[in-house]
Amino acid sequence: MALWGGRFSQAADQRFKYFNDSLRFDYRLAEQDIIGSIGWSKSLVTVNVLSIDEQKRLESALNELLVSVRDNPEQILQSDAEDIHSWVEQKLIEKVGDLGKKLHTGRSRNDQVATDLKLWCKDEIAVLLQAIGHLQLRLVDTAEHYQDTVMPGYTHLQRAQPVTFAHWCLAYFEMLARDKSRLQSTLARLDVCPLGSGALAGTAYPIDRDELAQNLGFVCATNNSLDSVSDRDHVMELLSNAAMGMNHLSRFAEDLIIFNSGEANFVELSDKVTSGSSLMPQKKNPDALELIRGKSGRVMGALTGAMITFKGLPLAYNKDMQEDKEGLFDALSTWHECLDMAHLVLEDIQLNKQVCLQAAKQGYSNATELADYLVAKGVPFREAHHIVGEVVVAAISEQKALEELSIDQFKQFSQVIEQDVYTILSIESCLNKRSAKGGVSPEQVSMAIKQAKDSLNNL
Ligand code: ARG
Repeated sequence: MALWGGRFSQAADQRFKYFNDSLRFDYRLAEQDIIGSIGWSKSLVTVNVLSIDEQKRLESALNELLVSVRDNPEQILQSDAEDIHSWVEQKLIEKVGDLGKKLHTGRSRNDQVATDLKLWCKDEIAVLLQAIGHLQLRLVDTAEHYQDTVMPGYTHLQRAQPVTFAHWCLAYFEMLARDKSRLQSTLARLDVCPLGSGALAGTAYPIDRDELAQNLGFVCATNNSLDSVSDRDHVMELLSNAAMGMNHLSRFAEDLIIFNSGEANFVELSDKVTSGSSLMPQKKNPDALELIRGKSGRVMGALTGAMITFKGLPLAYNKDMQEDKEGLFDALSTWHECLDMAHLVLEDIQLNKQVCLQAAKQGYSNATELADYLVAKGVPFREAHHIVGEVVVAAISEQKALEELSIDQFKQFSQVIEQDVYTILSIESCLNKRSAKGGVSPEQVSMAIKQAKDSLNNL
């Protein structure tokens, strides 16, 4: 039976009922709805709506229901209840009879759904923080393993300066650290409880809302009832966190897809995360990474969708708000799935160290070193930059690396170049010199690895 039949004489059209009902997706809020209901029943004792004994009977029936939905959440989908709130109330009435009908006193589905969803978001944030931390750990381990694997670093997708694979891994570690801190700050803002705001104007029962909030694990109760029932900032924030997180994972995927291409051949992906072609027997495609990149689109779309849905809503609750859930559930589970998949890709990745090194040596990625060398010998940087440009042109025409030119050839461009130039043109020297904080020098990278590990241990 619907929760609101009294005023109606005609049954709802079946097509409208299907369109309006939310049980098929909000069944995921079952646990939160039951926990919220237990909290509410305790508050009803304090305002003499329920006796202590009645509350105990309700609580134990709700706890039984909790165990049963944890065990088998799919059972909920068999029901034709309108939404999860109706379903829980129906089940409660089945268990304890008329006493179950008292639970909704002073409460509205508007403050109820707002509370359920916040409780759900809090649980989900904890799960996502763990998944991100897990991937960070994998990145640090991979970095540690490939500390001496030199590869080209790029700007404009042109070889720019040598870096190490470890340094690349740690770049993604940093992005993930920011993703975590964004989730934590979203959590801090959403951790206020809307329950006890009624439909929009506040509850007519003088309950201690802060106590109720704390019973449910929130920091305190919300300030304004109109805002409480219509605030979905946390949905948009979480979607924005997810969109940003997916942006990072998508770039991670794109980098590895390039590194895995036949042209680069820097990395070998495991058979576990690649698939073949039905026609071309030689193919091994990076599907896991392509799907991570691809799925980022729909997560970003969910953010856009939510922003547009909420932007025109007058205060307070409007049914449009029911649209907050499907996009959020889908986006957060997609993000989680992609974090796990990125982890799986890294588990068995193999670097072709020699190919990476050769590529780093090509492309004149030590040209900046030569310019710095000239500067050290007193040539102004702008002039040095120009001279090196000419040296590069000459080397290209001879199909040689800079370090393969003879001293005589160098001297045609600048008399200050001596034998010691060959040391500074080496890859080791390129890396070692970048020893300021955040640079690619081996000692900076190993310090960064240590710091990264410490930050994970201090969770
Ligand atoms: N299913 C609804 C939602 O998700 C619950 C709140 C319904 N409130 C109402 N006044 N009809 O938003």
